[in-house]
Amino acid sequence: MKANLLRLKPWAKFAVPLLLLNTTWCAFAAGGSDSDMGVDLSLGKALYLAPGKGGCATCHGTTGGEPIIDFYPKIAGQSEKYLFNQMMDYQQKRRKNGLFVPMEVAMQPYTEQEIALIAQFLASQ
Ligand code: HEC
Repeated sequence: MKANLLRLKPWAKFAVPLLLLNTTWCAFAAGGSDSDMGVDLSLGKALYLAPGKGGCATCHGTTGGEPIIDFYPKIAGQSEKYLFNQMMDYQQKRRKNGLFVPMEVAMQPYTEQEIALIAQFLASQ
């Protein structure tokens, strides 16, 4: 019994450095993908403007900053996380205030990943 425990010890010496290396690599990899995503906004823009999808621009304008009537919000330049959460709430039928009905309908054709890309595009405007 005691001999077995002693035999495992050499592995323990490698376990800690391996764990540290793994953590460092993950942090590095996550940082890399974040900055890559910040650059390319074209997909989010295409999803926002796509005819036959949500029709976003017909109400909020081509950049999200020119609503067609004063009852509609300006969404350009709003923070990415806020935009993402609001759009997910409409899509998941959790946001039911004021004029929510067109928004609930508009968000249905999109996946969560697509909504994240739209939020990124609008936040950059
Ligand atoms: C028919 C007009 C119309 C269309 C089409 C439309 N919206 Fe909206 N949008 C609105 C209105 C009105 C509101 C405010 C709703 C409320 O009171 O909750 C709103 C709210 C929002 C909000 C939340 C703003 C805030 O300050 O909380 C976001 C984000 C948004 N729209 C994005 C979009 C996107 C993206 C699309 C396309 C997928 C889209 N909208 C399509 C009219 C529209």
